[in-house]
Amino acid sequence: MTFLPNSPHARDVASIVHSQTNLRKHLEAGPTIITGGDGVYVTDDDGNRLIEGVAGLWCASLGFGVERLARVAYESMKSLGYYHTYRHNSNEAVIELADHLLSIAPVPMSKVLFQCSGSEANDTAIKLVWYYHNAIGRPEKRKIIARKRGYHGNTAAAVSLSGKPDMHQDFNLPFEPFRHTEFPYYYLEHEDGESEEAFAARMAASLEALILEEGPETVAAFFAEPIMGAGGGVVPPATYYAKVQAVLEKYEVLFIADEVICGFARTGEMWGCQTMGLKPDMISCAKQLSAGFQPISALLINDKIFQAMLTESDKVGSFAHGYTYAGHPVAAAVAMEVQRIYQEMDVVARVKRVGDHLSRRLDGLRGHPLIGHVDGRGLLWGLQVVRDRATRALFDPAVAIGQTIGDRTREHGAIVRIIGDRIVLAPPLVITEDEIDALVGALEKGVDAAGRQVA
Ligand SMILES: Cc1ncc(COP(=O)(O)O)c(C=O)c1O
Repeated sequence: MTFLPNSPHARDVASIVHSQTNLRKHLEAGPTIITGGDGVYVTDDDGNRLIEGVAGLWCASLGFGVERLARVAYESMKSLGYYHTYRHNSNEAVIELADHLLSIAPVPMSKVLFQCSGSEANDTAIKLVWYYHNAIGRPEKRKIIARKRGYHGNTAAAVSLSGKPDMHQDFNLPFEPFRHTEFPYYYLEHEDGESEEAFAARMAASLEALILEEGPETVAAFFAEPIMGAGGGVVPPATYYAKVQAVLEKYEVLFIADEVICGFARTGEMWGCQTMGLKPDMISCAKQLSAGFQPISALLINDKIFQAMLTESDKVGSFAHGYTYAGHPVAAAVAMEVQRIYQEMDVVARVKRVGDHLSRRLDGLRGHPLIGHVDGRGLLWGLQVVRDRATRALFDPAVAIGQTIGDRTREHGAIVRIIGDRIVLAPPLVITEDEIDALVGALEKGVDAAGRQVA
């Protein structure tokens, strides 16, 4: 494609490297420029008004263009704008936010560390895993286990946790002490005749075998998203986490819940830990913490971790870690206002109600010849595309069935997230039942059109 000289498209292609994008194709195709947003809709530069079925990157929980948040950011910038939290400094906004997060934590938590992204929150958690074990005199406990197809971010350490080979290839990653255990997706991964319960037991046994193979004295921590987001909106079987947590306890392995997607009502409870029954030592969260309006993340740690940090800080002289923008007063003020809005709208009750509607509305697709499995909680749903429902056979990747469905759905007015041959829905939490009908209606048309195209 040739771009008009000096057009936004030409300047974009000339100046920006886009994440998770085929770079050569981008030089040809150029960007889709999003020009505005209101409620659950965004508008692109071709004038299309599209329902954002995945809230941007699972974060715009209050939709787009929220004046109330703009006012809070304005006031905060006018009165201070910036200050740091190094060397005993603090600000009211970050204190209030930390207090609030501890008050709603799903298990007793002691302190909060702030960062700017989910990746940084997980990166901090990784450092604290090592710090903790050094403090308690177990420095050999260094290995960290996460799951194949799990996603925990893209800094060098957080992407080492992520079980996504394309994100490791030729970046010389993952770092050495990271290991990956099985992807707990019953529908595609179970053996013939295996019950969900037996599958969950096999997943936990496989984690235990990995710990034993590595040497339990070297295994420090396990990271998991309660419901897997970028792995495709995958809900592990009911008894999976109870079995996994028993293994972690047996070998004194810390458990970190990555709530970057699930946190703040996405799964129909305030935390994915509550939906799935997790009792972690640390919790990372971001995205819906600020409804995506400011880059801020939080890591909640329990007292066991904090006591060890005190010991190390005594030894070293300070807690020698931090970021310029950690606890940023504007980001914290906006995040706190988002939390107030959640309380006012009774976000958990709302997500349960509209989530039930979304589940019912997906019934049509549950019987579709191209859809093998539909599962989710609250407003986080994953649909598995199959070539043959009877055998659960998948399409040849060259067919790009997922992308075709995504493209056709967009033509019918909605953006959905395509992850290989999975379709994920995670709309803003403010979505109404009518808007859910429109979103699923567009997806149904997209799946039908893609089916005709590949027939
Ligand atoms: C579960 C999970 N953890 C961590 C991250 C990384 O967050 P960020 O992109 O803000 O660094 C993501 C991003 O999608 C995520 O889904």
